[in-house]
Parts: sequence; structure tokens; C-alpha cells
Amino acid sequence: MIEGGTPLFGTLRVHGAKNSALPILAAATMAREQVVLTDVPDLEDIHVMLDILRGLGAQVSYQRRTVVVNPRTIHSTDVPEHLMRLMRSSIFLMGPLLSRFGTVRVSKPGGCTIGSRPIDFHLKGLAQMGAQIVDRHGFIECSASRLQGAQVFLDLPSVGATENLMMAAALAEGETVIGNAAREPEIRELALFLTQLGARIRGAGEDTIVIRGVDRLDSAEWGIGPDRVVTGTLLIAAAVTGGHVRLQNVRPGDLTAVVTKLRETGVQVLAGHDILEVKGSGSLQAIERIQTAPYPGFPTDLQAPFMALLTLANGTSVVSETVFEDRFKHVSELQRMGASIKVDLRTAFVRGVHELTGAAVEATDLRAGAALVLAGLAASGTTVVERVFHIDRGYENIELQLRELGARVVRTRQAGVSVLQAEG
Ligand code: UD1
Repeated sequence: MIEGGTPLFGTLRVHGAKNSALPILAAATMAREQVVLTDVPDLEDIHVMLDILRGLGAQVSYQRRTVVVNPRTIHSTDVPEHLMRLMRSSIFLMGPLLSRFGTVRVSKPGGCTIGSRPIDFHLKGLAQMGAQIVDRHGFIECSASRLQGAQVFLDLPSVGATENLMMAAALAEGETVIGNAAREPEIRELALFLTQLGARIRGAGEDTIVIRGVDRLDSAEWGIGPDRVVTGTLLIAAAVTGGHVRLQNVRPGDLTAVVTKLRETGVQVLAGHDILEVKGSGSLQAIERIQTAPYPGFPTDLQAPFMALLTLANGTSVVSETVFEDRFKHVSELQRMGASIKVDLRTAFVRGVHELTGAAVEATDLRAGAALVLAGLAASGTTVVERVFHIDRGYENIELQLRELGARVVRTRQAGVSVLQAEG
């Protein structure tokens, strides 16, 4: 429940990246010895992954954002179905378990509902590496005595497929070349982690990655890098409220596309070595065009939050979503708050309005939910965002982070009752 209209002010440290931690946790199953990870964010998706690792037999502890995984006790390669359904990223376990143990069984994945999100690139790549794959009653069973290096070319630079295949290749026999690979910062981070375990990888972060398989991976200690989507969301929160926020533990170079677009709206963005600062302006300007694209393009995960900002900009902005086919679910909710948006297939035309008004809205997925929170922070009156469990999948206690910056926001089960008033 958000009482809008308060500009955000202050300094915040950004937590570790969910999208880095998830594949790295999956990769930990390939290690012979203990893996220690720090700054692992306290998020629902992370806890699902930790439960999956426990379900496989690994010993796992989580304390103060530090995860210790002991993979020596893994005795199963059957990913528990009820957990797999909760999180699409469980498919990351296919490559590592198959490569390390020669077999894996997963059910078809769940996760955010933002389009069909197939896994054909993952399966095709593994098959090219020699895996036998059987699709039976909603389960995928893969086996291989040892995966063989292969030349794999992805039809699209899929983040998950690049990560899955890079992990599979790390313990395969011979050399694997992944062409048209994704170049997201999380790919680079996974490669650095695997290298610390003993893998041999070149080109991560570029469009061709070469992996020379090794016989074993040992142990590693790794600090998860900052979450660029959380960073972007908080920068937009500062901008949409006309506040002044300084974020620490960030990598400005990973957010060039977002910072460029923020500046086009007229807000001031200052970048230091590991700091980003946003100073909101009195009036926001529309943006001619934003088009989501694989990295280094504008990230699809920040499309919805950025649209919340554009609803209040002077003029009409055009937002095109090219990565996922069904990622405009926030539009109808933003309209409930007074936004003027027209959608034509995968393009939204956002005509800035003078004011948003608080309303009861529903988070339909993770980033759409974040967009509604941002809109609520800027709106007049009270906004109630329901189904916040979506938001908890990717933002650590979002209400606490925003409160540290002065926002008037509480988590409550009592829809409709002003807990803000109760709290004073
Ligand atoms: C990852 C991120 C997610 C982000 C997305 C795009 C994680 C845990 N999640 O998701 O936050 O929004 O990258 O930056 O890191 N595709 C296929 N076949 C496949 C795989 C993908 O057609 O086998 C298509 C998808 O439908 C989509 C596009 O490729 O249209 C990109 O998807 P992908 O990069 O794989 O996204 P994820 O790895 O699922």
C-alpha cells in the first residue's frame, strides 16, 4: 500500500543479482568440493533454487546472504517437480547435472507468464553435444555417458540457453563453440565463476564463446555482482518521484542503455566507479523511441518500470518490446491509474499525463509489479498493489528499500484499510 507523491531521497546499497546467483547456484552442483557464495539476495527464487539443491541431496546453508553448498552428497538428478513448477530458472540445472552425472530429469518449467518462453535452444544444444533427450508426459529426461564438445549456433542470443550450454560444456570432452551467444553481464559473471572452479572459457561477454572441457571442477568462493535490474528500477523510482537518490554497489557500464534513456527524459544521472546518482527534474520529457533488445540494448526487464516513468512525461513516447511477445500486462493496470497508453501488437504509445491517481492494481509478473509500485510512488493518493509475491521473486523487501529512501509504503494483508494512517 503506497501513499504517493513523496520524492525519494537518500543513499542505498544495491543487492546481489538474482540472475547471476541462479545459474551460479546451478553450476555449484558440478563442483567436487564446497562452494561459498556471498551477497546472494534473499529472494523467493533463490530459496526455491536452494530447496532444489537440497532435494538433490546437496548440503546447503544460507545465512546473511552467504550460501555454502556442499555438492559431495548429491545423490539424485531428478529435479523435484513441485519446485520446478515455481521457477523457470530450474532448467539451468539441466546442463550442469547432465554434464557432471550423465543424467537429469526435469518437468517442463514454470515461472513468469511473459510469453511462451520455450526451451528448444537449450535442448537442441544439448542434443548436439550428444545428449539423448526424451520428452515423456511433461517431463524431459536427458542422458549421456559424457557430453561431447560441439559447434552450437543459437537462433537468438538466449541468456538461459547460453548459460546452460556453457555449464554443460565445462565438463564435456573437447571444445564447444557457442555462436550468437548472449552477451549479458550475467554470462560474463558465470564464466568467471566457472573459471575459478577450474573451467576453461574464452569469449564470455562476446558473441562467440569457446569452452574447452575439463575433467573436474573443484571449489570456489565468489561474491555475486550487483543486480542491474534492481539498480535500474531504483534509478527510475528516483526519477519518477522527482527525488535525488544515490546508489552504491552498482556497475554503471552495465546500464548504459538505461542511463542514456533516463537522461533523454531530462533527469540528471551522475556515474562514478561503483555509484550512480539520479537527480529528478521538474518536468519529464517523452522519448521518441525505446526498443528492448538483448544486451547491450535496452533490457526487457526494465521496459515496464520505464513505461511507468513515461506515463508522466511531456509528449508521446513509443515503447517496443522485441524480446518477449507478451510483456505489456502492466498497461491495463497503469491505465487504471490514469495513464494514457495505446498498444499495437508489440508497440505501446504512451502519451504523458499530468497526474496518475492511486488505484487498486495487480502485479501480473515480477517486473510489471515493480512498474506499478513506481507508478504508485508518483501517483496522488493511495495505490494498493496486490499479488506482491511476484515482486518478491526479484526485489529484496522492496517496501523496506523504498522506505529507506523516504517512501510511504507498507506491506499489509488488509486491502483498503489505510495502514499508513494507523502507522502515522
Ligand atoms: C533471462 C532472464 C530474464 C530476462 C531475459 C531476457 C534469468 C534468470 N532471466 O531469461 O530476467 O528477461 O533473460 O533478457 O537470467 N527463446 C526461445 N527458445 C529458447 C530460449 C529462449 O525461443 O530455448 C526465446 C524466448 O522466448 C525469448 C528470447 O528467446 O523470446 C530470449 O529469452 P532468454 O534470453 O532465453 O531469456 P531467459 O534466459 O529465460
